[in-house]
This record gives sequence, C-alpha cells and structure tokens, in this order.
Amino acid sequence: MMNKFEKKICCIGAGYVGGPTMSVIASNCPELRVDVVDINKERIDAWNSDDYSKLPVFEPGLENIVRKCRDTNLFFSNKVEECISQADIIFISVNTPTKTNGLGAGFASDLKWIESSARQIAKYARNHTVVVEKSTLPVKTAETIKTILNSSLDIDPSSEEKKTFSIVSNPEFLAEGTAINDLQNPDRVLIGGEDDYSINLISDIYKKWIDPEKIITTNLWSSELSKLVSNAFLAQRISSINSISALCEATGANIMEVVGAIGTDTRIGKKFLMPGPGFGGSCFKKDILNLVYLCRYYGLNEVADYWEQVVKINYWQQKRISALVIKNLFGTLSNKKLTIYGFAFKANTNDTRESPSINISKYLLQEGSKLNFYDPKVNQKQIFNELDVNEEDGNVLVYEDPYKAVEGADAVLILTEWNEFKFFNWEAIYKVMRKPSWIFDSRISLDQNHLKKIGFKVWTLGTE
Ligand code: NAD
Ligand code: UGA
Repeated sequence: MMNKFEKKICCIGAGYVGGPTMSVIASNCPELRVDVVDINKERIDAWNSDDYSKLPVFEPGLENIVRKCRDTNLFFSNKVEECISQADIIFISVNTPTKTNGLGAGFASDLKWIESSARQIAKYARNHTVVVEKSTLPVKTAETIKTILNSSLDIDPSSEEKKTFSIVSNPEFLAEGTAINDLQNPDRVLIGGEDDYSINLISDIYKKWIDPEKIITTNLWSSELSKLVSNAFLAQRISSINSISALCEATGANIMEVVGAIGTDTRIGKKFLMPGPGFGGSCFKKDILNLVYLCRYYGLNEVADYWEQVVKINYWQQKRISALVIKNLFGTLSNKKLTIYGFAFKANTNDTRESPSINISKYLLQEGSKLNFYDPKVNQKQIFNELDVNEEDGNVLVYEDPYKAVEGADAVLILTEWNEFKFFNWEAIYKVMRKPSWIFDSRISLDQNHLKKIGFKVWTLGTE
C-alpha cells in the first residue's frame, strides 16, 4: 500500500452501513485511505463492479460518490487481515441480528460477528489502533471487545512491537433511502469514549464536513445505550400512531387530520408520525428486543414489558390489515388474485429485511390467495427468498410491469410508499381487474376520491 495518506481507516463490514458511511468519509477526507473489507466475496465484487447499477446497496447519491472515490482513496476488498494490520483506525460495521437460538434467543443480539471481528483485530492489528464500534450494540459491549483485544497483548509479551488499543463508540443514525443526505448533514454525531486522544481523532474526521457543535461526546456506555434508545423512541412513535389509526377507523376520526393536529404541537413534532403497515427494516425490531432483553437482564421487568409492547403493536397492525382485506373480500381469499405494490420495507431502498409486506403476504397466502407482486427495486429472487416460496409453488408471481401484475386481480394492496404509484394510470388498472375491484392503501398515498370516482372500492388506513 502506498504511504501518501495521512491515516488509514479499515472498516470491517461492507453492508448498508459500512459501504455508504465509508464512502462519505472518503469523499470528505481525501487525505485518508479508507479500506472497506468483508468476508462476503460476492458483496465486495458488487462494490467493485464496473456497472454502477450493480452496487450492492441502492442509495440516492451513493453511486456518484463511489464513482469519485473508488480506487482513489476508497477501496473495497476481501483483504481483511492485511487491511487490519495497516490501519490506524478500525470501524466495526458488521451485522448484529437477533439471536435465533441459545441463551436470549429471540431477544438478545447475536454478537458472534462482533466477537470474530474483535479476534481478528486482536491478532492482526499493529502499534496503536483505535477501534470504533459503528454497529448497533448492547450497552457494555465495549467491555467484551476490550477483553478480547487486551487478551491478545499477553500472547507474546517478549514481542518488540507494542500493541495497544482504545475503543470508541460511534453509532450510526442514518436511515436507508436517505443515507447519503443523513451522512452529509446529520442531526448529530455521537462519539463515546474513554480517552481524549481517540475521541478527538474520530471527531476530527467528522469535523471535515460537519459543524463541531453537532458532535456530541459522552462516555462509552451512554453512547452505546443512546443508539438503542433512539431507535426505540422512533419505533414507539410509529406504534403509537398506528394504534390510533385503528381507533380512527372505528370512530370516524381521520388519522391524517389527527396527525396534523398533534404534530403542530412543537413538543410532539411533525416528523415520524406517518401511519402505515408497521415498521420494517433490519433494526427497529431487533434493537427494541435487545433493549427488552437488557432490561430483563438487569431485573427491570416493567420497563421491559413497556418497550416490548411497541413490537407487539407492530405485529398486530400487520395482522389487522390482513384481516381487513380478507373481511372485505367476502371473508375468503380462495381462488382470488391479489396484487401487492411494494415489497421494500420503505420507499427508495431495495432492502426487504423485516418488511411489513412479508408478514402481510404470508397471512394472505395462508388464506389461499394467489399473489402478484410489483416493486420497482426488488426482484423475484428476493421476494421468493423472503416468502420462502419457489416458482413451482405457482401462488406467487413477480412482475416487472405493474400493469401486467393487476390483470384479473380482485384487489391491489399498497404496502410501500413508492412515489411512482401515485402516477399510475389507475383508470387502465381498473379496466383489467376483476370486479368489484378493491384498493387497500396501507400507506395513505393515493387519492381516495379519485379512485372511488373511477369505480374502485377503497380502504385507506385510518379512515372510516
Ligand atoms: P449488513 O448485514 O448489511 O452488513 C454487515 C456486513 O458485515 C456483511 O456484509 C457481512 O458479510 C460482514 N461481516 C460480518 N462479519 C464479518 C467479519 N468478521 N469480517 C468481515 N466482514 C464481516 O448490516 P448493516 O445493515 O450494514 O448493519 C450493520 C450494523 O449497523 C448493525 O449493527 C446495524 O444494527 C447497524 N445499523 C444499521 C443501519 C441500517 O440502516 N442498515 C443503520 C444504523 C445502524
Ligand atoms: C431507522 C432510523 O430511522 C435510523 O435513524 C437508524 O439509524 C436505523 O433505523 C438503524 O438503526 O438501522 P431505517 O430503518 O433505515 O432507519 O428507516 P426509517 O425511515 O426509520 O423507517 C423504518 C420503518 O418505519 C419503515 O418501515 C418505515 O416505512 C416505517 N415508518 C417510518 C413509518 O411507518 N412511519 C414513519 O413516520 C416513519
């Protein structure tokens, strides 16, 4: 590696966080060399693809940054050990999903990827290395990482080379679909640490493009915990408003009017009050469940129950939307064809992890429905994988043309708020559907009155 760079950063994990975060750092800090490494060869090949439409993460603005920086000061590779050994700063951005078995299964985070990264760092790092927790972690994880790193120091006490580590927590708050803007203009950057040198080293990176007043420094544990709490508060707002959407349907109140009325109170605020089919994405559920687990671990059962309810309401919202569809289609879906517009967990992303479309589709399939899908960014393979079906099943078809997907369908369900749905030719769609033709708009994104004029029967979330 050439030495023209002031410092070298290695990021372990080239996923939705590692890829965009490091691209933005590289683009703002040409004096730094940024190596993003991953054990997943396919993913790295995609990051290095000459065809930029094949980058493994779709984010508006990302392609331009990768075009500008790749192979200049931003490098993607599988050379995990080599890049660790040359790095001054190592960001850990690996996955931390919910444990599926063993102690804490269903709640606790699975830290096996964190542990293996720490072990690799312990083995290959040289001189002084600042290790940065970028992944979302249970509070106190830095203690585990420290133990692993420091145990490597005892292995060869006679070694000439003095290996030292410090740990910093720098959780990421980007949201998918707006990741580049969130990284360029964050509300804040949070840095938790124990020593001024490391905190300043990481702060100085962000100061290259972020107002220093937005950089908050705390102790390690506050920083780790604040990330979990931040996601829990955001998800709580969604469950709160979704619970009220059901009450609106029962009483004749209109959920968007309620949102407008409460959101203008500056103490409540307008943001993150959009009702829908429930939150998806890889993090809200896992982070709240992790918070629940931590509370139980510390004997705070009432606190655990309180937060767990946020996740329970989220399941309930998906179940009740499915039940409504079935009820309105005369109580049975057998021999009926339903079209689902939108499979991504939100608009402007190709990510389908924990998408509400998954549970809702599964409920509808259980009722004997045939499902046709259209999503502008999600392909057949991904939909089949998420629903655990294959071509032979014949009950699930995925279309690239939204108009073909509705031929002969009894209903269209809007499950992701893709903007293009608003501009579809709904008259043409109505013509090719079986009658009565239903639209179930769980994202409150279409003009109900216009659709009713065309002839559709319309159910919109949170309205009578
Ligand atoms: P991801 O699954 O997209 O990417 C993680 C990558 O790490 C994978 O490509 C995996 O192969 C790689 N990896 C795992 N162990 C490795 C090892 N030992 N060496 C090298 N590579 C390894 O995950 P993500 O969505 O980027 O999330 C990463 C972390 O960031 C999680 O803790 C998540 O909670 C947090 N986070 C995610 C988001 C988001 O929007 N996705 C936002 C904020 C925080
Ligand atoms: C969320 C947080 O917003 C980020 O700050 C955080 O960094 C990230 O989780 C993480 O830790 O992974 P993300 O999941 O990418 O980001 O997307 P959001 O915009 O938060 O949406 C999450 C889900 O909530 C989506 O399914 C979305 O449709 C839903 N949502 C969001 C609503 O139903 N209503 C809203 O008002 C907002």
